[in-house]
Amino acid sequence: MEAKLTLVGAGPGDPELISLKGIKAIAAADVILYDALVDESLLEYAKKDAIKIYVGKRANQHSHSQDEINKLIVDNALKHGHVVRLKGGDPFVFARGYEELAIAKAYGIKTESVIGISSVNLSGLYDIPLTSRGTNESFWVVTATTCKGELSKDVTLVAQSTATGIFLMGLGKLKVIVEAYRAHGKDKLPVAIISRGSRPDAQVIKTTMDNIVELAEKEKIQSPAIIVAGEVVGQELEEIKVDYLNQPLAYANA
Ligand SMILES: C[S@@+](CC[C@H](N)C(=O)[O-])C[C@H]1O[C@@H](n2cnc3c(N)ncnc32)[C@H](O)[C@@H]1O
Repeated sequence: MEAKLTLVGAGPGDPELISLKGIKAIAAADVILYDALVDESLLEYAKKDAIKIYVGKRANQHSHSQDEINKLIVDNALKHGHVVRLKGGDPFVFARGYEELAIAKAYGIKTESVIGISSVNLSGLYDIPLTSRGTNESFWVVTATTCKGELSKDVTLVAQSTATGIFLMGLGKLKVIVEAYRAHGKDKLPVAIISRGSRPDAQVIKTTMDNIVELAEKEKIQSPAIIVAGEVVGQELEEIKVDYLNQPLAYANA
C-alpha cells in the first residue's frame, strides 16, 4: 500500500465543472475528505468502499480546524493509502492547499495536485469577461478579508487601478469595498455580484458602485459570492466590434 495525497479542485459548484483528471482521482481514492462548497454528487464516482469524510463548515455542525484536517490527511494516507482532498474551486486559490501538501510531504507521503476551475472564473458563465481588448490590461483577485479578519490593503490599491477587481469572501465587506472605489471617484464604475455561481440557484446582479449595496440588500444576495468590479462588467456583447459580421458570407448563395 502506498500512502498518497491527491489535492483535487472540484470547481465552483456545478459538478460538471470538475476535470476528467479530478474524476479519475476520486474513482481511485481509498479516502475522500471533502469541503462544504463541493457538490456531493461527485462522491458517486468513488469506489463503493471508499471512506468519505466531510470536513467542511456547516451551520450547527462541528467544523474541522485546519490542524484536524491536516491530521486526517496524514492518518488516513498512512492507514488506508490514497487520500483525495476534494476542495471547492481551485486548491491553491485562498484554500490552504499548499499547507496540506506541505504536511503530507513532511510525513513522506507522495503528493499530486489536480487544479480546478476557481470561482474567480465564474463571471465568464454570465457573459462578463475578466479582460476585454482595449478595456483593461489586468485583473486582480483579492480576498477582502485577511487571515486576521481585517480589510486587505490590496482593496485600496485595486480600487485606484483600471484592473478588473475580483473580490472573494467580500460580501460582508461590501460597504468598505464600495467606499474604497468611491474615494477614487468611481461612483459609476460597473460592478456585479455573483452568488452561488454555476449552481441552479445562482443569482447575478449588475449595477454601478453607488447602487450596489442597496441592490444587494434588496435582492438578499447570499454567500458564497464574488464581487467583480470594472469596466468589463458594463460592457454589452452588442458593443463589441465583430468585423466579419459586416462582410458578405462566402456560403450565403451556395
Ligand atoms: C475560502 S474561498 C475558496 C475559493 C476557492 N478555492 C476557489 O478557487 O474558488 C471561498 C470563497 O470563494 C468564493 N466562491 C466559492 N464558490 C463560489 C460560488 N459558487 N459562487 C460565488 N462565489 C464562490 C466566495 O467568495 C467564497 O467566499
